[in-house]
Amino acid sequence: MRIIAISSGKGGVGKTTLSCNLGIAIAEQNKRVLMIDGDMGLANVDIHFGVRPLQHLGDVLKGKSIKECITPLYKNIDLIAGGSGLVELTHLNAFQRRELINQVQDMQFSYDYAIIDTASGIYEHVLHLNAVADECIIVLTQDPSSFADAYAMIKVLHQKYKLQNFKVVCNQMKGMKGEALFIKFAEVVERFLSVRLSLLGSLPFDENLQKYQQQQRSIMRQTADSATANIFRQIAVEIIAENAMGGARDSFSEDTSQKTSGLAAIFRPATGHA
Ligand SMILES: Nc1ncnc2c1ncn2[C@@H]1O[C@H](COP(=O)(O)OP(=O)(O)O)[C@@H](O)[C@H]1O
Ligand SMILES: [Mg+2]
Repeated sequence: MRIIAISSGKGGVGKTTLSCNLGIAIAEQNKRVLMIDGDMGLANVDIHFGVRPLQHLGDVLKGKSIKECITPLYKNIDLIAGGSGLVELTHLNAFQRRELINQVQDMQFSYDYAIIDTASGIYEHVLHLNAVADECIIVLTQDPSSFADAYAMIKVLHQKYKLQNFKVVCNQMKGMKGEALFIKFAEVVERFLSVRLSLLGSLPFDENLQKYQQQQRSIMRQTADSATANIFRQIAVEIIAENAMGGARDSFSEDTSQKTSGLAAIFRPATGHA
């Protein structure tokens, strides 16, 4: 299972939008996807999909198995919903932690991809989710504060966890090409930090996407051909193709052996560094 964390510095840029649509696009390619709502404050992947999960990650802490907490969405795509009380995830005792790790590890064989929609901002648990992921996707918009916050996010992930590879998705583009925004951003980032950025895709500001989302429908599942939906599909194909070639995995300098435990490491205690 390959873990993809979707982050930004700033809220409202489109992390949840990208997570959900990319999840659907990857599932369309016949890969099994587990969506994980890692936004511990404002869990809303369930809203996006228009489902009302009976269980969420918080229930796992109360003794339910992770398998019991899975909400099926569509073919090839399931959700572990977020929920209130998830802040507790950072305060687990050793027994709870071990239990969670075991359960999550069991699921690694059931899915090809886990997509984690993270919270906005540079919080320890968000950094940690990124640090254990195989791939960090940063969502960037033209908004100057998104630019600054994305920079800050990459800086702290690089300095604290020595992550070096970041994928960028430009979103809500208006009157400017994503490529141009990316070049501007990459120039600044790569001037000051020794990281590698690559542009994974660029999405226009699309009123239809927003409209469907307000109706809790996904643009991916509408019959009319949508250029935006096709961009999500291109991104999915690129991710799968790269994975098939081995994919570049960042090293998690603080403890590389734990990095290989993948998703389970999310539930590792935040010792010192996170
Ligand atoms: N490409 C886009 N075009 C138009 N609206 C978008 C686009 N991407 C996101 N939005 C809208 O922006 C708002 C915030 O998106 P969301 O995915 O919830 O952001 P985040 O998870 O980063 O806080 C939502 O109303 C969403 O519909
Ligand atoms: Mg969100």
